[in-house]
Amino acid sequence: MRAHRKYSSIVAGAAAVSLLLAACGNNNNDNNATPGATSATSAAGAATQVEVFTWWTSGGEKAGLDGLVSVLADKYPNVEFINGAVAGGAGSAAKDLLQSRLQANAPPDTFQSHAGMELNDYIQAGQVQDISNLYTEFGLTDVFPQDLLDLLTVDGKIYSVPANIHRSNMVWANPTVLTDAGLDPAATYATMADWFTAMDAVQASGKTALSVATTWTQVNLLETVLMADLGAAGYVGLWDGTTDWAGSDMTAALQDFEKLMSYTNTDRDGLDWPDAAQMVIDGSAAFNVMGDWAAGEFQAQGLTAGTDYIYFPVPGTDSMFGFLADSFTLPVGAPHPDGVKAWLDVVGSLEGQTAFNVAKGSIPARTDADPTLFTPYQQSAIADFASKTIVPSLAHGAAAPTATLTAISDAVSKFTTGGSDLATFQDELVTAVG
Ligand code: BGC
Repeated sequence: MRAHRKYSSIVAGAAAVSLLLAACGNNNNDNNATPGATSATSAAGAATQVEVFTWWTSGGEKAGLDGLVSVLADKYPNVEFINGAVAGGAGSAAKDLLQSRLQANAPPDTFQSHAGMELNDYIQAGQVQDISNLYTEFGLTDVFPQDLLDLLTVDGKIYSVPANIHRSNMVWANPTVLTDAGLDPAATYATMADWFTAMDAVQASGKTALSVATTWTQVNLLETVLMADLGAAGYVGLWDGTTDWAGSDMTAALQDFEKLMSYTNTDRDGLDWPDAAQMVIDGSAAFNVMGDWAAGEFQAQGLTAGTDYIYFPVPGTDSMFGFLADSFTLPVGAPHPDGVKAWLDVVGSLEGQTAFNVAKGSIPARTDADPTLFTPYQQSAIADFASKTIVPSLAHGAAAPTATLTAISDAVSKFTTGGSDLATFQDELVTAVG
């Protein structure tokens, strides 16, 4: 339950985060000048390797990873990067494979893990090592928001280095499709009901109103509906036990989810998130709800915000920042700890965070990055992270343990494929979090 307390504190702590961001200084992280960096130095001297296990394979994800790899090559020319990426958005294929490897004592050198409850699972299972000493060695203790550090820390020990901060509750839309449907692309929708009216117009124009893909993207959609309809406190209450999953507010939210799903493409379960984003890019769909890795995808395709695509928070969630962060670990039994050390240095460094996030669509976890190096979307996300209420993402490991997320995902999939009615769906969600 300690993490539940942390989420309350991350919500309450939004103002503190904003202070931290406002107070960002030019905190230079030059590990070569850090006394005691002997092992990293020897990693630079003696040839070694690092197998980096992620699920970053799409355009913007791959470009971000390439950015980290190029900083690794500059700083540690003798560390060979081995790409252990497993395709499948949100780790939909990677996480199971990783679990098999961890259980077989054949871990990769380092793996991607979401800050919060997902990381907590690995910590509680004794699968990752305390790396607090590296924070001291690399000068990382003061460069991340305290609330984020709290999510990476258990019993005073810190277990991973964050690469970024993503926002889960964004809509990406095609302005031409909206105009063709008689809608004003600059319009904003205060409520789900307003948004449904716009979707009716898109549907009448013969286009898909809302594109979605396989189960995890439907869970991503669901979390944003819960944020919109329950509000920040009600949504956070789902994870700390103060909001009743069986309540009538929840029923109403699930009805909105059902309605949203009725506007989506029927081939959804055979698609992954880049396919659903592509429907917006190609003009076959008007709206897509997705985390802001979609911004990286649009950028990787050379598209221009404002003309080729527009974006806004999911209606009803404007005051919230659906938070998640990717971080990197040192697994127990990692074959090349020197290589991991070099990788973690790069991930935490200002150069690494800049090279990675510029392409990924996320914002740097470090508070001292130069915002002017980032896109207007990212600059707005940096400002929003400092000013909005931070709420944890369900689909991306911040809000709930993996077992809970799996049970919720199973219930969602059953419902959206016609295997359960709304009442059964709600009952199954109650059981999933029980
Ligand atoms: C990760 C992102 C990734 C997205 C889609 C999320 O769970 O945090 O880094 O881009 O999944 O694969």
